[in-house]
Amino acid sequence: MEAAPFPRQLAVPVLEVPIPKAAGQLSFWNDVGLDQLPVREIASAELVRERVCELAKEIATELGGEPLTLAVVLRGAFVFAADLARELISNKMENLLITFFHASSYRGTKAWRPPVIQELGEMSTDGRQTVLIIDDIVDAGHTAHAMIQRLSSPSRRVEYCSLLDRPEAREAPVHPRYVGFRLDGPGFVVGYGLDYDDKYRELPYLAQWMPPSTSI
Ligand code: IMP
Ligand code: MG
Repeated sequence: MEAAPFPRQLAVPVLEVPIPKAAGQLSFWNDVGLDQLPVREIASAELVRERVCELAKEIATELGGEPLTLAVVLRGAFVFAADLARELISNKMENLLITFFHASSYRGTKAWRPPVIQELGEMSTDGRQTVLIIDDIVDAGHTAHAMIQRLSSPSRRVEYCSLLDRPEAREAPVHPRYVGFRLDGPGFVVGYGLDYDDKYRELPYLAQWMPPSTSI
């Protein structure tokens, strides 16, 4: 079952990620040398933490009455999911089941479509009827669409929670119900689990990935 557009998304904080000046001179961003790339912080660790707490409250308010399964989309959502799951406990959402899927659609900033979704182990839903998918970013939306298709069944409620949402890039008809931050602009975001070719996942803050010799 696909989630309906969620009016409260209007209150989602927006992060500006403009395309860097001079980046257009590059044939493609990942053609450049990657090792000494600077990044520009767009949301501090503290701001991210506050927003994760707010999301956990929203989720607990809406889904708190039901036993919940979290379906975490690896690899980018691993940090977000770990923090969110612990905040859900603080909001009295106990007895979560947490299961993992691997989705791969990107190498650097180049898309591989359609996304390949792989279940890691077998999802034990234990008779539960609500699954909350936890993702790092909904961009074109193909990964989210594939995850929803994969998990939907007539007896199950499937909701989507993404740390980041870039609606202007959308190609597939998906509307994540719970969103941490909306991105305004096509700039590439790293940190807090999000990567550029497996780099920068460990940053505790969110940052825009900046090709060398560019500025905002
Ligand atoms: P979609 O299928 O186009 O929505 O892409 C979703 C996936 O692309 C995400 O789960 C990320 O792995 C990756 N992705 C898209 N935009 C970014 C970005 O700005 N930074 C890091 N990963 C991204
Ligand atoms: Mg992802």
